This record gives sequence, structure tokens and C-alpha cells, in this order.
Amino acid sequence: MDIALPGIELKRDFSLKNHNSFGVNSTARAFVRVTSEAQLFYLPELLSRYSSYLLLGGGSNMLLPDFYDGLVVKIDIQKYSLRESGKDVLVNVGAGVNWHTLVSDSVKRNLGGIENLALIPGNAGAAPIQNIGAYGVELKDVFVCLRGMDLEKGELKCFDLAKSEFAYRDSVFKRKWKDKLIISELWIKLTEANYHQPNISYAALKDFLIQKNIFQASISDVFNAVVDIRKSKLPDPEKIGNAGSFFKNPVVSEEKLNSLLEEYPYLVHYPVADGLTKIPAAWLIDKAGLKGASKGPVGTHNFQPLVIVNHGGATASQIVDFAGWVQKCILNQFGILLEPEVNIVQSGENDGLLQYRPHSGNGA
Ligand code: EPU
Repeated sequence: MDIALPGIELKRDFSLKNHNSFGVNSTARAFVRVTSEAQLFYLPELLSRYSSYLLLGGGSNMLLPDFYDGLVVKIDIQKYSLRESGKDVLVNVGAGVNWHTLVSDSVKRNLGGIENLALIPGNAGAAPIQNIGAYGVELKDVFVCLRGMDLEKGELKCFDLAKSEFAYRDSVFKRKWKDKLIISELWIKLTEANYHQPNISYAALKDFLIQKNIFQASISDVFNAVVDIRKSKLPDPEKIGNAGSFFKNPVVSEEKLNSLLEEYPYLVHYPVADGLTKIPAAWLIDKAGLKGASKGPVGTHNFQPLVIVNHGGATASQIVDFAGWVQKCILNQFGILLEPEVNIVQSGENDGLLQYRPHSGNGA
């Protein structure tokens, strides 16, 4: 055991198998766990000793390489407090708090705002990075601000809603600040039940509630419905390795939509903005006959083909190869290049392992 810096223990050749929801048997050359905002001030100096580093939260939206040739920093800041102000409740939460625990605690307190985001794997600190969203609600709808360590300047920095530049599965933290900011804590605004209007706009959620004869859904009705829906079609990463949706839902132009509709009149699609239309990637994969398809230990899930699963013992490269094959099939059949939603981590200094280039335009 080495002491990396005061209070921070450094581990070498550390197994990340229990730190990624895909269950890949990944190994990090070096690993540290950060448990307080104060420790973040030591990090710029520690990181400067490595030519590559990876910031890890719950590891639920990442495909880690089989070997990461650098330093992995696990952010495990646990913190939780509430401040009431009339109908609003401001919740301050540490980056290391499990997201679903935060959601279920809020529901138990009868606070509304994030009940649609139940059972999303991962930690609170990762939620803003891809602006997590499900069943008609996104993090941005409750987000107030966050604080994090600017690794270049070695100082804490705050981001409000405008500065965070949230969009569908996107934010400034995923682009400009990628690997340059460690999110330490965030503030979200929840609403007292009496003043909260649950969001049941998402068709699958609304239908589920109607089937249960629930016409005036409470916060816990929505929470329970989302939990039931998710459990019925999304695999539990504790039982079968996965990172949720592997690809984003593609957005196409009006021209592209019309040409697709000529060939596939029953194409499922949702208008977004300015003549653009979102098509569920799950529909495309299903239509291509790839639902439940597999190669060795990797496959698409039987109930939700947008989720790529590790049936057991899959390596990172096997998962990447499979994802590339799915991309090629969809590109060949529909002329649409699916873009990964999962963060595919390259292997650090030894950067030859994962040959996956999501923006190459050739589907590989
Ligand atoms: N579909 C099929 N075949 C299937 C499953 C789905 O054709 O086997 C089609 C159906 O037409 C269905 C449509 O795909 O209506 C959409 O499916 P679903 O409602 O399951 O949602 P999704 O678009 O596939 C998105 C998010 C999920 C989130 C759900 C619910 C993305 C990339 N994924 O999935 O997020 O839980 O909506 O809001 O936006 C995640 O990010 O990891 C994730 C699971």
C-alpha cells in the first residue's frame, strides 16, 4: 500500500470488476478513492504524475478497457442535506451518493421532481454529465447548480443551469469540461407533494398507470410505475452486466424520415424540433432482427435491444466488436449511424486495444 497524498491511499493493479456495471474484468494500473471535497485540492498534483487518468463515478455508463494504463480516480463523496423554502426543497447531495437511493429517499419524504428517474444506475455526480433522463423527465428539470474541482486551476468552480448547457444526453461537462472537472456536489430543487404536478406525459408511463386505474397519480404512484416498467424490460446490472442504453436515439432530417417512411410505413418516430425527428434506436435494432442477437458472451437484451449485455465473462474488446457489428447492420439497412450513449474508455497510454471510432462515419 502507498500513501498517494495525505489521506489518499494508492492501489496498484487494481481490479475494477466491481466498479463497472458491465462487469468487465478491467484492471487499472493505479487507483485512488476520493471521499471529501477537501481531498480534491491534492488531486491536480497527483494527476500530474500520470500521463492519463480516468474519473470514475458509479461506473454505470462506461465501458472500461480490459487494462487501463493510468490512474483511476473513484469519486466517493457522500453528503446529503435539505433546506426547505416554501413549496420548494433544495437538496444538496455529494457526487458519490447512489442516484436511486436519492430518488427513493425523496419519494419517501413526499418530495416530487425526480420520481420518473427511479432505478437509473450510477451516482448523483454522474447525473449531470449526460443529463440523465427517462419517462419524460431529465435532470435539467430539477437542476439548480453544481460545484467541482477545476483540475487545471486547482480551484472549486460553480455551474448554474445556463452554464451547464444541458441537452439530450449531453452537457458542457461531457464536452468542454470532460476530464477537466471533478464534480463534487450538486443542488437540485424538489417540490412539496401538495404543489407538485407529476409528469406522466411519456406514453408508456401514462398507459401503465391507466391500466392500474390510477388517474390522479401521486409521487409514489409514478415512482412505483417507473420501477415496475424498468424492471420488466431492463436487465438488472447486478445480475447481468450492462450499461443501460448502449446507443443514443438518432435524430434525422425530414427528408431522411420521408425516405424511411416510404420503405417502413410503421416506423416509430417522435418530432423534436425544426423539422427533426427522433427514431428509437431500439426499434431499428428490433426491425433489423437483432433483438436477442449475440456473439459469444455479448448480445442485445431480449426485451430491450438497445441494451447490450454481458452474458458472463465478456472482455471490453468483445463488447466493442459486437457494438460495431450492430452499428454496421443498422447503417447498411437504414443508412443511420448509431452513436454510442455509453462512454467508451480507451486504454490509456497503451491505446491500441479499442479500435472503436464512433464518429468515423463507417459504422465501425
Ligand atoms: N422498441 C421496439 N422494440 C423493443 C423495445 C422498444 O421497437 O424491443 C421501440 C418501441 O417503439 C418503443 C420505443 O422503441 O416505443 C422506445 O422504447 P423505450 O420506451 O423503452 O425507450 P428508449 O427510447 O429505447 C429511452 C432512454 C432510456 C429510458 C427510456 C424511458 C435513450 C438512449 N434511452 O429508451 O434510458 O429509460 O427512454 O424514458 O434515450 C439509458 O439511458 O441508459 C436508458 C435506459
